[in-house]
Amino acid sequence: MIKNDYTIRITQKEDYLPTEIIVRQAFLKKDKPVCLEHYLLNQLRKNDDFIHELDFVMEKDGRIIGQNVFVKANIKADDGRDIPVLTMGPISIVPDLQRQGYGKAILDYSLEKAAEMGFGAVCIAGNIKFYQHSGFKYASEMGIRYHGLPEGASAAFFLCKELKNGFLDGVTGEYATPQCYFVTQEDTDRYDKDFPAAAE
Ligand SMILES: CC(C)(COP(=O)(O)OP(=O)(O)OC[C@H]1O[C@@H](n2cnc3c(N)ncnc32)[C@H](O)[C@@H]1OP(=O)(O)O)[C@@H](O)C(=O)NCCC(=O)NCCS
Repeated sequence: MIKNDYTIRITQKEDYLPTEIIVRQAFLKKDKPVCLEHYLLNQLRKNDDFIHELDFVMEKDGRIIGQNVFVKANIKADDGRDIPVLTMGPISIVPDLQRQGYGKAILDYSLEKAAEMGFGAVCIAGNIKFYQHSGFKYASEMGIRYHGLPEGASAAFFLCKELKNGFLDGVTGEYATPQCYFVTQEDTDRYDKDFPAAAE
């Protein structure tokens, strides 16, 4: 179980490359030998909707072991309103320290900071098995649909959490992952040509 042997702080510019490296290490799996997420993080940090005040690194014994980031997003409500929400990620913990509670710790901390900044809800694509421990639910249970999902396709990947109680009361509508999340393999391959081998 997690001990209090870590610190979480706002990411500085000098942390950008080290955090991309750990994202790549975390997301590269034996059964999934390609990774876009480190390049995605690089691109998100240049986007106007990226929230630098919610860009976090986790450190243990002077080493960066985890990170999480947030981006402004939107629900198109069925009554015509635009409901401002957040989306989140990539979030990662270095492979050798996964499943020891660090992921939940940085997630809970960063959600608390997002709530303190006044944001009302977070919508993400993710695995309920991890996110349910931090209060995420299937977005479909909250009346929020995922844009472009074919009829009959499972929306089990699409999760939501209110940061303000009741923020989504009376809201039904559609959420689309912000365009800035759609990076291509081709652009990532180009970026990887100069990416440090340390990330392998
Ligand atoms: C996902 C990730 C951030 C979780 O961080 P973590 O420190 O490994 O997870 P925690 O130890 O805090 O997990 C808390 C609980 O969430 C659940 N959980 C976490 N990762 C899980 C997984 N991959 N599959 C199923 N359940 C998971 C478990 O119930 C876990 O408790 P347990 O280990 O006692 O069973 C981390 O594993 C990671 O970096 N993975 C690779 C990158 C990634 O997939 N990022 C998320 C994309 S949506």
